Amino acid sequence: MKFSKRLERFPDEIFASLNKKKLEMEKEGRKIYNLSVGTPDFETAPHIKNALIEAAKEQDNWKYSLRDTPEMLEAVCSYYKKRFDVDITPDMVCSCNGSQEGIGHIGLVLCDEGDTVLLPSPCYPVFIASANMAGAKPFYYPMTDEAGYLPRLSDIPEEVARQAVYMIVSLPSNPTGSVAKEGIYEEIITFAKKYDILIIHDNAYSDIIFDGEVGGSFLKHPGAKDVGVEFFSLSKSFNMTGARVSFCIGRKDVIAAFRKLREQIDFGMFYPIQKAAVAALTGPLDMVRKQCTDYEARRNELCGGLRKIGWDLPDSHGSMFVWAPVPKGFGDSFSFCMELMERTGVICTPGASFGPLGEGYIRMALVLEPEEIRKAVEAIDESGILR
Ligand SMILES: Cc1ncc(COP(=O)(O)O)c(C=O)c1O
Repeated sequence: MKFSKRLERFPDEIFASLNKKKLEMEKEGRKIYNLSVGTPDFETAPHIKNALIEAAKEQDNWKYSLRDTPEMLEAVCSYYKKRFDVDITPDMVCSCNGSQEGIGHIGLVLCDEGDTVLLPSPCYPVFIASANMAGAKPFYYPMTDEAGYLPRLSDIPEEVARQAVYMIVSLPSNPTGSVAKEGIYEEIITFAKKYDILIIHDNAYSDIIFDGEVGGSFLKHPGAKDVGVEFFSLSKSFNMTGARVSFCIGRKDVIAAFRKLREQIDFGMFYPIQKAAVAALTGPLDMVRKQCTDYEARRNELCGGLRKIGWDLPDSHGSMFVWAPVPKGFGDSFSFCMELMERTGVICTPGASFGPLGEGYIRMALVLEPEEIRKAVEAIDESGILR
């Protein structure tokens, strides 16, 4: 069978051998601390589950929905006002089956073969996949330790900026855990206007942010709605990863074009999931705030604990991830992850899977209770791998 040339643009799955090793270790009855996958382990709030269950009892709700219900679009608008103090209208909102799918397809809406797009490096892998799918050429702007893992526009050459169609920005960042600093979005908006670049802000972690900071929306900043769209996912804030609910929000012509592409391939979100989304967006937010505190306790346990045993790594400031340099004396991020797993049972993700500047680092997800994280740190210490 001959497959498309397009398929060759995607890298081979580097998780396969990590997974194989994990299964072998489980078979041997070894204790595993799985910090590799960013799936929340917190409960989905009862009012969200009940909305879905009740809606699923109605036969009419099992038909193609074909569209975002006015009720759900209104719920997004009122949530943006309540949570972010941002005014939006229903024609500025289009749902997608998770930001993964939405971002995966947006390159097809905006780019022709050979167009240039600006992506952070390291970054969440679907940013790269989307460019590959559309045949666009990524220019990776660095997110380095020296720059606090934040975008530095001076790193983007003028001729690249002139050619770029869009720029993806995502803060709090997966994988680096960096968060937006005062003034950064204003700078990005000025840059976007100067070079006529669309900004795509991936706002997956607005509710997981530490040290007293409060997450916001890119669209709050003056001029943002003229130059950008934001992906706003319910996955992490509301522990709804499996339900696949996210929204692309912002500049009207981009939303209309995004909807046009989606209408070719999608018959709309399952009604009971739309009802669950409405319940999440209009319901109480105390659980969301509580779980942010819980993530912070895990961050403290992991970053503080690892530093105490001699692993020199910075605190994560937001997202559900910690980004750590591969300790001195080891090879690449993949071989270090394999050795760490073998010697300690702790499973992490090699930095190389997050794009060109990810090598030399590993990512750990805050998906275990503090007590389990403490045991994982102990296992690392006792293995002697850091000495
Ligand atoms: C930065 C970022 N964007 C998007 C996603 C995907 O979110 P969704 O569940 O809405 O597809 C994730 C998931 O981990 C993520 O970390």
